[in-house]
Amino acid sequence: MNSGPREWDAKTYDAVSDPQLSWGMEVLSRLELNGDESVIDAGCGSGRVTEELIKRLPDGHVTAIDGSEAMIDEARKRLGDGVSYEVADLAELEVEKPVDLIFSTATFHWILDHDRLFTHLRAALRPGGRLVAQCGGEGNVAEHARAIATVAARPEFAAHLSGMTGIWNFASPEETEARLRNAGFTEARCWLEPKPVQPEHPLEFTSTVTLGPLLAQLPEQQRRPFAEAVLEESEKPLVLDYVRLNIEARAAALGS
Ligand SMILES: C[S@@+](CC[C@H](N)C(=O)[O-])C[C@H]1O[C@@H](n2cnc3c(N)ncnc32)[C@H](O)[C@@H]1O
Repeated sequence: MNSGPREWDAKTYDAVSDPQLSWGMEVLSRLELNGDESVIDAGCGSGRVTEELIKRLPDGHVTAIDGSEAMIDEARKRLGDGVSYEVADLAELEVEKPVDLIFSTATFHWILDHDRLFTHLRAALRPGGRLVAQCGGEGNVAEHARAIATVAARPEFAAHLSGMTGIWNFASPEETEARLRNAGFTEARCWLEPKPVQPEHPLEFTSTVTLGPLLAQLPEQQRRPFAEAVLEESEKPLVLDYVRLNIEARAAALGS
């Protein structure tokens, strides 16, 4: 089961992603680095968090990977030539040379098949290499998802959306630790952290971040009405009940 990546409105994401930047900075602040590591930023988006990661790696090298061409273009504009770039589906990732660290923020919940994802990430790490990540976890945006489901069930929208299966994988720490062990990781440690957010521009934020895959299924003229109806269906002011899943693990030696 893999839904595959989609295109994003990278310019708007860059403008509205202050919450993602602040969560990314928190993950970075607990990351111990020598400064010379080879690192993949898995799902780099427009590169705002990648930019901070690079500052911690004066003698290292960063490969910025994302499934959206528009995001990689935006990241390239921000970060310039010192970084390697790749448009790729992380659930199918293959690298020529395994790296010391895979870092990822606000991305893994967009990938439905975590077993496949973690197997590919393990293969992209050298034995002993680390995975340090954060994504949406169990309970993430539960109230927002309820509002979305209510609006999506209205006949004018259901005609376009009824075939859609889940758009997010908000996994629990326990199932994620088990999946990591199965994929060849050791020292797997996962935990949840509530992080409610009141977006400054709710329509822009939800249209770009949370509603993206649904809006992509709707005819152009229904997209804005759908997003407005979701806001109408939500408590005001909109507070998104974000819950982040933190992930830390080490690649086991092959064959162990
Ligand atoms: C919310 S953005 C996070 C970007 C950045 N890490 C940040 O924290 O601002 C999620 C990113 O994950 C990427 N993504 C989602 N599914 C993916 C997949 N299967 N393979 C590669 N990238 C994917 C999207 O294209 C998007 O850029």
